[in-house]
Amino acid sequence: MLVHGGAWAIPDDAAEAHLSGVRRALEAGYKVLTRGGSALDAVEVAVTMLEDDPTFDAGRGSFLTSDGRVQLDALLMDGGRMKAGGVACVERLRNPIQAARLVLEQSPHVYFVGTGAEEFARSHGMPLIDNAELVLDRERERLKNAKERQAAGLADATFSGLEDDKGPETAVAPATESPLGSSHDTVGAVALDVHGNLAAGTSTGGTLNKTPGRVGDSSLIGCGCYADNMSAAVSLTGWGEPIMKLVLGKWATDRVAAGSAPEFSAREAISYLHNRLGGHGGIILLGPDGRFGMAHNTPAMAWGLASEAGLETGLKI
Ligand code: GLY
Repeated sequence: MLVHGGAWAIPDDAAEAHLSGVRRALEAGYKVLTRGGSALDAVEVAVTMLEDDPTFDAGRGSFLTSDGRVQLDALLMDGGRMKAGGVACVERLRNPIQAARLVLEQSPHVYFVGTGAEEFARSHGMPLIDNAELVLDRERERLKNAKERQAAGLADATFSGLEDDKGPETAVAPATESPLGSSHDTVGAVALDVHGNLAAGTSTGGTLNKTPGRVGDSSLIGCGCYADNMSAAVSLTGWGEPIMKLVLGKWATDRVAAGSAPEFSAREAISYLHNRLGGHGGIILLGPDGRFGMAHNTPAMAWGLASEAGLETGLKI
C-alpha cells in the first residue's frame, strides 16, 4: 500500500505533521489489508484519515475558494470490479471519499456533483454539515494573502518553492496557467490486497483561491486517480489542470499494462507532465504484482509505503 499527502515545497515546520499524517493513514489502511480486508476498504480508511487531518488540502482544513468556502472533490476506484464513484464540488460532507464509496456501491451512476452529490450522500446515511465546519482560520489567512498577491500581480508568476525552476524548454503551457495557490496537499492512496485486487482513491480541496465550481484532476477518472487489475492503481497530486489535459493517471497505468515497470512509468509520467505542459506534481503507482513507483518534480512529496517488509514514510523520493 502507498499513500501520499501532497507534493510541493513542504516547509520544515510542516514536515513532521505531514510525515505523521501519512504514517497514521498508512497504518490504518494497512491494518485492513493484513486482516484480509479489501484494497478498496484499505484505501477508503486511509483517505478518510487524511481528510480528517487538517494538515492536508482535503476535507477539513482545505484551501478556500475565491469566495471563502471549502469545495471538495474525491474519487474511489475498484480495479477488481472496475467500479468507480466520484463526487465533486461538495460543500457539506466531512468525508467526500465516503460519499464516493456510496456512489461506487449504491448507484448505477459513477459521478455526482454539488448539491446532487450531497443529497445522494444524505439519502444514503451521511450527515450533512455546515461548510463553516470545514474552514480553518489558517486558510482564511492564506486566502487573504493569495488575494493580496494576486492584486499585486504576483500570484500567477510563481509556483511556491519552485522559484528556481525556470521551466521546461519545451513547455507549451503559458505561465498564466500556473496555479494561484502555493501548495498542493491533495491526498491519495493505492493498495493491493490478498485477493489480488487493486484500488485507488484521491481526495482534495483543490487549488487555493479557485473559482467556485472549478473541478480539478483528483476526482476525474484516469486523471488524478485510476485503478484496474489489468494495469495498475494510481493517485496523483499537484497542479490539476495539466494533469487533466494529459489524462495522466490512465497514461501511467497504460504504460504498466504495456510492460513498463511501475517505478519507471511513475518517473516517465512526471517527466511527461513537465515536458509537455510545464506541470508540477507527484504520483504513486502500484502494479498487480506488487511492484510500485513514486515520483515528483516538486521539492517534496509526503509519501508512505507499507508492505510485508515494513512501513516507511518520507518527504522526498
Ligand atoms: N490536484 C488537485 C487539484 O488541482 O484540484
